[in-house]
Amino acid sequence: MLWSLLPLAAVASAQTGGLNGRGSTMLRFGCEQVVIDRIDPLVNPGAVPSPHLHQVVGGNAFNASMPEADIAELATCTTCSFAEDFSNYWTANMYFKARNGSFKRVPQVANRLLFNDRFTTKTRGGFVVYYVSPGKGQVTAFRPGFRMLVGDANRRTAPAKSLKSQTCFRCFTGPNFQGDNAAPCADARLDTEALPTGPCLGGIRSNILYPTCWDGKNLDSPDHHSHVAYPTAGPQTFTGSSVGNGCPTTHPVKIPQIMLEITWDTTAFNNKAEWPEDGIQPFYLSTGDRTGYGQHGDYVFGWKGDSLQRAMDGGCTGASCRDLKTISNEEAVKCSVPELVKEKWEGWLNALPGLEM
Ligand SMILES: *[C@@H]1O[C@H](CO)[C@@H](O)[C@H](O)[C@H]1NC(C)=O
Ligand SMILES: *[C@@H]1O[C@H](CO)[C@@H](O)[C@H](O)[C@H]1NC(C)=O
Repeated sequence: MLWSLLPLAAVASAQTGGLNGRGSTMLRFGCEQVVIDRIDPLVNPGAVPSPHLHQVVGGNAFNASMPEADIAELATCTTCSFAEDFSNYWTANMYFKARNGSFKRVPQVANRLLFNDRFTTKTRGGFVVYYVSPGKGQVTAFRPGFRMLVGDANRRTAPAKSLKSQTCFRCFTGPNFQGDNAAPCADARLDTEALPTGPCLGGIRSNILYPTCWDGKNLDSPDHHSHVAYPTAGPQTFTGSSVGNGCPTTHPVKIPQIMLEITWDTTAFNNKAEWPEDGIQPFYLSTGDRTGYGQHGDYVFGWKGDSLQRAMDGGCTGASCRDLKTISNEEAVKCSVPELVKEKWEGWLNALPGLEM
């Protein structure tokens, strides 16, 4: 049931509820949704509405624009199970397009049980966040105000060099995450950079992996990409214990590897007779992207004080870590951000929010 690449020592130690003797850290924790709204403080700061809809998890300081401030000090609650993580993570939503041209949002469902982490199995529509460090002192946690973007919302064709280890979709072969036995984005058969072309009997999962090298100076850059980079060999495959070697000399500082994992319950939409008549797969990202190549993720750092550095140095696995406080799902769902753009995004829609098609 586990990714073959996950170090067995880490799994064994996590299952006894304890610290990982090898010293590497892999936090894996659930976050409930904090809001679904058509705002994007990174790419379209201040725009209400922004061009496309997002779904957001994390702290309640999320807003149409977010200053390079310490949002851990501005937020008063979070939807993530680690109480000190007030960061925001956001991605596109997924929609199904029916044969008659109407759209319906694909629900997100809770992730599987791993490492005795019940929170993650009970979330109502959020997603799972991972942070990886190869060992104590080997990564530098982000500074307050840090933010970055991975992927390109406008991409609609396969990039010249595959970026499958950066963003991918997994097509589960049956209920309960069937077929999930390779590391995220590493399965040659079930993982694709584009949206899957056939019905996925157990749903579709998105994995989005952020860069692991930083220029050491800038909290952001005009394109929200250039202050960070992948190792010179390309995006590091997710192993749960490595952030990859060989950062470029321009971006020498190793940062934790963040990965987002979103499970879309597409099972209500598997009847091909209801798919658009062109026979092409029926799912759209809320950007209007039907290819999947435009999958992207945004991040604004917001861990309180030095809590992330402590966690990265703590040799922790899963959703418990010495000295880090956790909250319950009941507490997490109480945290929300008011919607700024009042529009319908649920139920059958004539068009994707903000996009006339
Ligand atoms: C969002 O920003 C507006 C304008 O600056 C402010 O009035 C509002 O309180 C902010 N909301 C949150 C949740 O921080
Ligand atoms: C379009 O089709 C879906 C089912 O495929 C149906 O539930 C919905 O009501 C239809 N919408 C319109 C406007 O006919």
